[in-house]
Amino acid sequence: MSNKVTKIGVLTSGGDSPGMNAAIRAVVRTGLYYGLEVYGIMRGYQGMVDDDIFPMESKSVANIIQRGGTILKTARCKEFYEPEGRKKAYANLKKRGIDGLVIIGGDGSFRGGKKLSEEFDIPSVGIPGTIDRDIVGTDFTIGFDTAVNTAVGAIDKIRDTMDAHDRMFIIEVMGRDAGFIALHSGIATGAEHIIIPERKTDIVEVIKSLQEKEKRKKLVNLIIVAEGDDEFGGAVGVNNIIKQHMPDLDTRICVLGHIQRGGSPTCLDRVVASRMGYNAVECLISGAHNVMIGIKENRINHTPFEKASKLKTRVNEEWMKIVKILAS
Ligand code: ADP
Ligand code: F6P
Repeated sequence: MSNKVTKIGVLTSGGDSPGMNAAIRAVVRTGLYYGLEVYGIMRGYQGMVDDDIFPMESKSVANIIQRGGTILKTARCKEFYEPEGRKKAYANLKKRGIDGLVIIGGDGSFRGGKKLSEEFDIPSVGIPGTIDRDIVGTDFTIGFDTAVNTAVGAIDKIRDTMDAHDRMFIIEVMGRDAGFIALHSGIATGAEHIIIPERKTDIVEVIKSLQEKEKRKKLVNLIIVAEGDDEFGGAVGVNNIIKQHMPDLDTRICVLGHIQRGGSPTCLDRVVASRMGYNAVECLISGAHNVMIGIKENRINHTPFEKASKLKTRVNEEWMKIVKILAS
């Protein structure tokens, strides 16, 4: 392995996700193992611009693997979109001799990393950290498993009261423009309908099926809506349309919100984060850069930032068929 980097910086950027701390821990400890100096950069690119950068040691990451959020904090940084902001950020790295970056974040953060290394001589490796799971080149993004399990736990609780009252619930889950949290949590909780942005929903068909169930006195129905579905205006919009056709139906709405982004990471997220963190440092050392670490078929792979920051993961049509058959 040719050791081209000597000092690396690690940052978490964009929306936080459970398991980011486990990834930071893996990056720091792997870097130290290989004799590198490791610096923590606070609040994503904002800390790079503001010079909020500090040396990390093994004990800096003790007792964090089980904690949600990120000890490095995270932010969305406007200045970094501008060449002036990136120039300032690079100067702060340069003065410490930082010659490699590990960026833990989503596709936007990778676009930022790509811009920086195009303009300045600073190699970057990305780790996909987002609950939305909307990044190509990997079967896992850090935080998704925890987020869907949190959603499933919450929906199970709602189902108890829903069932007791013979009511219908429309639950909105996160995911930005992607429907993976809705799809996975909906299948896992036995939802009757799942509405996601990746697929056009035949709302007439949904209403017909609810009316047909009403005739059979089946009033307990669960509909999961992805927040990114702008066809109807989220859970509230879906509820309004249903009520127009079935005004007497007893329905309730619940928007799960940021609860999905917090909490202790699941075992899967901790393991994925540890593998990716370790491999990100190996990748920087071996000279590869501007790539995102991913896991496909249980193997580590590299996807160029160019691809990871542009393409979105597709929804497998078979999954929608499964929802329909299992809810019938
Ligand atoms: P995520 O990484 O979760 O997709 P964002 O899209 O908000 O989150 O991106 C995180 C940060 O990355 C932004 O606040 C900005 O500082 C930086 N960034 C994103 N896109 C670009 C870009 N095209 N050029 C420069 N910096 C960018
Ligand atoms: O990208 C993660 C995510 O939680 C999305 O699911 C959601 O749309 C967005 O971030 C919310 O962002 P904020 O915390 O800035 O409101």
